[in-house]
Amino acid sequence: MSALLRVAPAPAPLRGVVRVPGDKSISHRALLFAALANGSSRARGLLQGADVRATRAAVEAMGVEVADDGDAVIVRGTGALAEPRDVIDCGNAGTAMRLLLGVLAGEPGFAVLTGDASLRRRPMGRVAVPLRSMGARIDGAGSGTRAPIAVRGGSLSPFPHTLDVASAQVKTALLLATRREGACVTEPGESRDHTERMLGAMGATVHRVGGTVTLDPVHTLDPLDVVVPGDLSSAAFWLVAASVVSDSVLTLPGVGCNPTRAGVLDVLRAMGASIEAHDAHEVGGEPVADLHVRAASLRGVRIDGALALRAIDELPVLAVAAACAHGETVIADAAELRVKESDRIARTVAGLRAFGVAVEERPDGMVIDGRGGLPAHAAAYVDATGDHRIAMAFAVASLASRGGGVVQGAEEIGTSYPSFLDDLRALAGDAGVAWG
Ligand code: S3P
Repeated sequence: MSALLRVAPAPAPLRGVVRVPGDKSISHRALLFAALANGSSRARGLLQGADVRATRAAVEAMGVEVADDGDAVIVRGTGALAEPRDVIDCGNAGTAMRLLLGVLAGEPGFAVLTGDASLRRRPMGRVAVPLRSMGARIDGAGSGTRAPIAVRGGSLSPFPHTLDVASAQVKTALLLATRREGACVTEPGESRDHTERMLGAMGATVHRVGGTVTLDPVHTLDPLDVVVPGDLSSAAFWLVAASVVSDSVLTLPGVGCNPTRAGVLDVLRAMGASIEAHDAHEVGGEPVADLHVRAASLRGVRIDGALALRAIDELPVLAVAAACAHGETVIADAAELRVKESDRIARTVAGLRAFGVAVEERPDGMVIDGRGGLPAHAAAYVDATGDHRIAMAFAVASLASRGGGVVQGAEEIGTSYPSFLDDLRALAGDAGVAWG
C-alpha cells in the first residue's frame, strides 16, 4: 500500500449512516484500568486501531491476560502487574506512553518504553519530571525528556502537583502513579475527564473542585463492564464533511459527547452548522447521543481558551470548516497542537495553503480567511507526515474541493480510525478514493 492517498471532490451529497469506531481515549483507559483491577473486566466496542493495540500488548507484557469474546474484550486483572518481559513499543500512541509511565513509576520493577519516530520526538518531561519528584527513577533520550525512556518504579512519595499545561494524559499518569496513597493534581484548565469518570465507576472516590482533581487512596479497583462510545474525534470528520458538502445529510449513531471534550460541537454550532443530538443517554458514566448533521452555510468564529482545549484534537478539521465558511476564523491558545503527532499548526497551515486558502500562522494557532469554499482549482498536494488526524482532515478538504487532493503520509489513519477509508468510499464512491 502506497502512502499517497488520492481523494476526488465529492460527486454528490454525502448521505447515510456512519458508525464511527470506539473512542480512543476511553479504549486506552478501559484496557489499562481493567489491568489494574481485581477481577475480570469486560469492554465492548473498543477501538481496534493500532494505538489501542499497543496498550493491549503492553498490559499483556505485564502479565495480564486479555482475551477476545465476540465483540468484547475480557481483561483478567489480578491487582498486580509483573515486570514487563521486554521493551514496550507504544507505536504512535502518546496516550499509551504517558499513562504507562505513570503506572510503571508506581510499580516495583524496570521497564523501557519506546515508540515510532513521531512519538520519540514528543515531550515526555511533563510526565517524567513530576514522577521523578515523587521518587521514580526515570531516564531517557534528550536528558530524560523523550523516548526511549526507562523507568525503575517503586513506592512513591505523593504530593500535590500543579501542571503548567492542562493535559488529561499527564493528569491521568499522576493519578495512577500514586493511586494507592491518593493524589491531587491541579490544571490551568479542565482537560477531558474520562479518567475521573472511569475510576469512579470502578469504586474509587474522585473529586473535582475547579481545576483540582483529588483521588482518595484506592485499595482495590472493581472490574469494569463498559461499552465504549463512538469517538467524537472521528465523528468530527463527518460532521465537517456533511456541513460543507452541499445538500449532505448524515447520521452518526452512538457518539460520545462528554462535555469536557465536545468543543467541536460548540464550535460548529457557533459557525452555523446544523447538528442535532438525539437519544442522549449515559453509557458507563459517559454521555452518548446520535448525531444528525446536514449541510449549512458556515461563518467564521474565534476559538480560544477553554473552547480550544475542549476541541484540541478536532482543530485541524475545524480549520478546514473555517476555510469553507464565510469570514475570518481565529484559532488561539492552541500551542499544544505543535507537540501532537506532528506540528499540527504548521501541517494545517501548509495543507490549507495547498488548497489556495489565505491563512496566517501564529505561535499558538492561526487566522483563516474563509471565502465560502476552497479556492484551488487543481488537485492540492498535502503532506500529512504520518499524522492520522491531518490526513483525515485533508481527505475531508479534498471532498469539499474543486480539484481533489493528494495526501502523502496518510498511512497512520489506522491508529485512530481503521475503517475511515471504507466509510469514505461508502459515502463518496469507490472511484474517488485511491492509493497511488
Ligand atoms: C488524550 C488527551 C489529549 C488529546 C489526546 C488524547 C487522552 O492530550 O490530545 O489525543 O486520551 O488523555 P493531552 O493530554 O496531551 O492534552
